[in-house]
Amino acid sequence: VREQWQKRYLKTRNRMEVLCAPLSAEERMVSSTDETSPAKWHLAHTTWFFDFFILRQWASDLSHFPPQPPVYDFLFNSYYESLGAFLPKKDRRLLSHPSSEEVDAYRKTTDERMLTVIEQCDEKRFPELARLIELGLNHEQQHQELLIMDVKQNHFLNPFKPAYSVETESAFASGEDLARGWVPFKGGKAEIGTNDPDTFYYDNESGHHSVWLESFSIASHLVTNGEYLEFIEANGYQNPKHWLSDGWEQVKRAGWTAPLYWVKEGSRYQEMTLSGLAPLQLSKPVSHLSYFEAQAYAHWKGFRLPTEFEWEHAARSKVSGFSGMERELWQWTQSAYLPYPKFKPFQNELMEYNSKFMCNQMVLRGGCRFTPEDHYRTTYRNFFYPNQRWQFAGLRLAKDENE
Ligand SMILES: [Fe+2]
Repeated sequence: VREQWQKRYLKTRNRMEVLCAPLSAEERMVSSTDETSPAKWHLAHTTWFFDFFILRQWASDLSHFPPQPPVYDFLFNSYYESLGAFLPKKDRRLLSHPSSEEVDAYRKTTDERMLTVIEQCDEKRFPELARLIELGLNHEQQHQELLIMDVKQNHFLNPFKPAYSVETESAFASGEDLARGWVPFKGGKAEIGTNDPDTFYYDNESGHHSVWLESFSIASHLVTNGEYLEFIEANGYQNPKHWLSDGWEQVKRAGWTAPLYWVKEGSRYQEMTLSGLAPLQLSKPVSHLSYFEAQAYAHWKGFRLPTEFEWEHAARSKVSGFSGMERELWQWTQSAYLPYPKFKPFQNELMEYNSKFMCNQMVLRGGCRFTPEDHYRTTYRNFFYPNQRWQFAGLRLAKDENE
């Protein structure tokens, strides 16, 4: 059992390094917006998570490990207020020190210590240790996706529009093999959330409960670039009628005229991808939309976004009737990110992991191509502010019965 935990630990940790391998030391330092973080920081922060929450907090009897530089707590704590002061997010881009080599050494040392702890941990305390490792690995997987989001944003803002890797995003399935249309669901009681004792899940998806749904239909396919282009060509970005008030303010303030990574050249669009600028593929699902844009498109089409409960019910019932339902693109829902009934956040400092963000954000469902398979669940709730669009987010339409 312990050997399996060691293997799993190393597998997830190594994947982070594989994802960073194409990045030079210069690229690892860049963070181009207030939303992004440098790759170097991701590498260090995920390490700090194991170092702080396991090696120091929990395995305090293992004091024969010499301490890491105390400043790492300040530099690599992301947002845990209860742990004291931390570097403001916008300043992560200033991390010329520690060097990339020092961050690599921090990872290496922490990994060696973690493997030792897994091997030597008292039998009685092992389940508790395993729970924390599980959280640390899931946390690292979240940062693996964030890393790719951030690299894409950074490379987009660089005038060279460099490629991150030869791996293109064109593998996004467009689901041409499946008939396009609506998938209907009868109203009634639906099961939401999880308390499955055999799998890991975050506190925000715990609390298995029922909700009542009216009859609805949900689109078999994600909205494509071609379909979204029609909204643009119909002057969707110039017509306040389709937009929420906050959305319209955002469009005007930011000068939005298209999804984040679309670049107009003459009368044609190019799209930034992980392999650089490429001609816009019309049959590919539209991505890098904000909630505001997803909502405006749905309104223009005469439909709406699904609630997160409709989405989960649909995914639990007949996922094979859909194209791109899971692990293709995150899909905006019209549900505000709120606690489920009887919600209990993680304990102690980890209470800050999810629960303090339950205000002013919207839920996305479905995972994306960069969400690791062993990380994703049908009950998974992602959340972003309605104006954010550097995540791999698209949309799927929904409608009430008989519309
Ligand atoms: Fe984190």
